[in-house]
Amino acid sequence: MAAAPQRLSPSSSSSSSSSSFLPVREVGTLKLPAILNGLWQLSGAHGQIDEAQAVKEMSSYVDAGLPGFDMADHYGPAEILYGAFLQEYRGSHRVYGLTKWVPPPGPMLRPIVEANIQRSLHRMKVGSLDMLQFHWWDYHDERYLDALRVMKALRDEGKIKNLALTNFDTVHMKKILDSGIPIVSNQVAYSVIDTRPEKGMVQWCLQNNVKLLTYGTLLGGLLSDKYLGKPEPRVTNLNTVSLKKYMQTIRQWGGWSLFQELLSTLRSIADKYNISIANVGVRYIADKPAVGAVIIGARLSISGHVEDNLRTFSFPGLDSDDIQRIELVVRKGKVLRGDCGDEYR
Ligand SMILES: NC(=O)c1ccc[n+]([C@@H]2O[C@H](COP(=O)([O-])OP(=O)(O)OC[C@H]3O[C@@H](n4cnc5c(N)ncnc54)[C@H](OP(=O)(O)O)[C@@H]3O)[C@@H](O)[C@H]2O)c1
Repeated sequence: MAAAPQRLSPSSSSSSSSSSFLPVREVGTLKLPAILNGLWQLSGAHGQIDEAQAVKEMSSYVDAGLPGFDMADHYGPAEILYGAFLQEYRGSHRVYGLTKWVPPPGPMLRPIVEANIQRSLHRMKVGSLDMLQFHWWDYHDERYLDALRVMKALRDEGKIKNLALTNFDTVHMKKILDSGIPIVSNQVAYSVIDTRPEKGMVQWCLQNNVKLLTYGTLLGGLLSDKYLGKPEPRVTNLNTVSLKKYMQTIRQWGGWSLFQELLSTLRSIADKYNISIANVGVRYIADKPAVGAVIIGARLSISGHVEDNLRTFSFPGLDSDDIQRIELVVRKGKVLRGDCGDEYR
């Protein structure tokens, strides 16, 4: 998808290069940067974070040109730390805070839904959520429609700016839209090797002006120079839940030795543009039809890749030869089974 012409530039205080501009894309009422910072990495399952340092680093991400954060009610202290950051932040950038509500099954009456949305508003220190992304565990339990109807009412009352989904499949997205509930995006796993959205969801999204916000695009960090030429890591050496999760994806797709062939191919494409393997992997997905933004997990206070990730859009884009070379290797593996989100049900 061609990037919208409007672009975000890093502030003059940023140390990143002047080529580090991010396209801005319309997702509902938001003009989101094409890369968002994912805060699942603050949940505790990706290493012990220093909370005060994490809050400070949020400012530097924003000032460097990455002003969008994706979190959830169940990502440990993520919403609270985001709220603390907002209270401290003195910069002039528009900051975006997207959250999720992932309720356990149960009755979805207005007081229950409202109390949960109110909790996120309180933690994030905002009067209105930029985006609320809703997850549901069991399609047989149709109370997800009750919940969404209440959220639509809360959106009409101004407590939510944009109503969205996460990990819904195409059939149920359609059912929701057919029930008169307007959704602006669906957050799903989408990477070079996990192309499940292309089975039908992308087409449906294009027809219905629904965007995809993608996660797992860097496979927890496995899709990077760090793993090029390395033997298959033992699960016990994978120190985040994210790495463990996406190691499974690699196995389901084609295994470590084929993955190495893919990393080598991405490296030779990266050489052409003087960028990283991660940049190629993110750009490949960011420019796909229907994609609104790629979410890249940020282990605030532990590790950071801001400058490198800002280089994702430092070149005009992958050409047809690059894409052909990538797809030649990808097709040697299997297309992952099912639709987006099936692994959660
Ligand atoms: N809706 C859902 O069900 C769902 C599920 C999963 C994730 N998410 C969202 O997506 C976000 C991303 O999480 P994810 O698990 O999918 O992880 P990911 O974005 O695929 O991987 C994040 C990891 O990649 C590494 N990395 C980042 N930039 C890099 C670069 N330029 N070069 C090399 N390595 C780089 C870092 O590893 P190191 O820290 O080790 O350096 C980072 O921790 C989450 O925070 C969350 O917001 C949503």
